[in-house]
Amino acid sequence: MDTLISILPTSTAPADILRLGIKAANGPVSLACSFSLEDVAIIDIAQKAGLNLGVFALDTGRLNEETYEVAEILLERYRLKIDWYFPRHEEVQSLESAEGLFSFRESLDKRHECCAIRKVEPLSCALKGLSGWVTGIRREQSVTRSELKAIERDDLNGGILKINPLIDWSEEQLLAYTEEQRLPKNRLYSQGYRSIGCAPCTRSVQPGEDARAGRWWWENPEHKECGLHRKVM
Ligand code: ADX
Ligand code: SF4
Repeated sequence: MDTLISILPTSTAPADILRLGIKAANGPVSLACSFSLEDVAIIDIAQKAGLNLGVFALDTGRLNEETYEVAEILLERYRLKIDWYFPRHEEVQSLESAEGLFSFRESLDKRHECCAIRKVEPLSCALKGLSGWVTGIRREQSVTRSELKAIERDDLNGGILKINPLIDWSEEQLLAYTEEQRLPKNRLYSQGYRSIGCAPCTRSVQPGEDARAGRWWWENPEHKECGLHRKVM
């Protein structure tokens, strides 16, 4: 496995990264799907390559309606089964009762608290029993992602494989693939969004702004992670 990580050339095609990663995982592998263009492209690539890839989604309770619409379209188009994971209701109840509905705007700690409850804990449930998981992260997305590899060992999640087939794709390549293959596109993109997250923490971006400028726009770029893609420091 470690040899595989070090020898994979940066030009490896997404379908090959997926195929190699699934083979190396040697057990069940699922895509974490946020219904972004990246994740839809991965579903399409996996199906066309005949790969056995599960799909799960984390419903934080704060997603946009447009995002649920994409989920419904994908069910139909790809005959998918999507496994949905939710936060623990007791944790959401006490968070909202004690701190209100927008506590994540008050400080970085409070934002991390909300992400921990709504995303990170459900992710750990979703990963139980998996030998690997697939994500749509791309290196150019942010300073926090520039060092990531196509296939990594995820030490924060029990050492299973984390497979990032689009790691080297640019936004232009992704958009071109989406158009060529006529993939379903979250309607938020046509409203100026360039990244899809929770509704109260994501907004459209202005021309010339960074693609992730609309995520947690009140924070510095080096803080813009919700915990799904943490690394062991
Ligand atoms: S985040 O960490 O800032 O929220 P981002 O939105 O860039 O992540 O998405 C990167 C990848 O994380 C997605 O391509 C997807 O694999 C995974 N991901 C993000 N949000 C979710 C979600 N709600 N459900 C499942 N996977 C998700
Ligand atoms: Fe909470 Fe915002 Fe994180 Fe979603 S992105 S889990 S609403 S802090």
